[in-house]
Formats: sequence, structure tokens, C-alpha cells
Amino acid sequence: MGSKGIEIVGMDVQELLKILNSAFADEWFAYYQYWLGAKLVKGPMKDAVIAELLQHAADELRHADMVATRIIQLGGTPITEPKKWYDVKSCGYESPDDPFVVKILEQNVQGERCAIGYYKRVLDITQGKDQVTYNMVLQILQDEVTHEEELQALSEDLEFLLKK
Ligand SMILES: [Fe+2]
Ligand SMILES: [Fe+2]
Repeated sequence: MGSKGIEIVGMDVQELLKILNSAFADEWFAYYQYWLGAKLVKGPMKDAVIAELLQHAADELRHADMVATRIIQLGGTPITEPKKWYDVKSCGYESPDDPFVVKILEQNVQGERCAIGYYKRVLDITQGKDQVTYNMVLQILQDEVTHEEELQALSEDLEFLLKK
């Protein structure tokens, strides 16, 4: 951790670390939900859906990396025990127990909407107070907005197909 880098943060760093660890847990949940969903998914347009889910999984893992790096910069520690992810999560995890493609897409769209809401709140909290975190969260939020749109587009195509 860099002392000056922490000193310039214009808000309670411990509070910020809590917010970031919550995001960290959610990113791992999102990664796993996409990754496992891609393995299990069944139904029409499966191949296109798998490709999208795997791309999103890679993005969520990259987000977990970004958030962990920022937590460490701020003098904190990313949660070391996965069991604790459940205690701090914001959006959490929807297990892909029903492998039908429509259901999998629906669960992941809900996850993205929750992530968008959460990161929007983090942006509002950090605006003008911690530019480094703000900038990172903005990058992540842009990805989550793209994810939601991509999943919705797939759902719409699927709807056409199923109505035929
Ligand atoms: Fe993410
Ligand atoms: Fe996402």
C-alpha cells in the first residue's frame, strides 16, 4: 500500500474497503454463475449463448482482479475465505439448477441489473472523493451495461425462435 495514495482518498477508507469487498464477492459469484451456466445450458441457440456466457465469465474474473488490486492498494485484504462471500455479498448468486437456456439467460440478466445498480451507487459514493476507485468502477459499470444488453439481445432472438 502507498501512503500518499491512501491519504488522498476523501472518504472513510474502511467504509470503502467494505463496499469493495462486497463487489469482490459478487464478481466471484458472477464469474462462477456464468462459467457453470455455460457448462450446463441446454436448448436452442445453445452455442451462441455458451460463447456469450464464457466471454462474460472472463470479464467478471477480470473485474474481481481489478477490485482486488484496488483493495490491496487501499491497505485492505480481499476476502480470503469464500464462505464469507455470502456474508458480504450485494447481488449474490443464482444457482443454475434449471439448465434451460431461457432460464439461464433470465438469471444472468437479473444479476447484471443488480450489478449495474450496485456499481451506480458506488460511483455516487466515490464521486469527487476517490477518483481512482471511481474510474475503476466506471470501467466495470460500462462492462456490466454491455453484458445486460447482450443477454437481452440473445433473449429476444430466442423469443422469436421459440414463437415460430
Ligand atoms: Fe462484473
Ligand atoms: Fe457482468
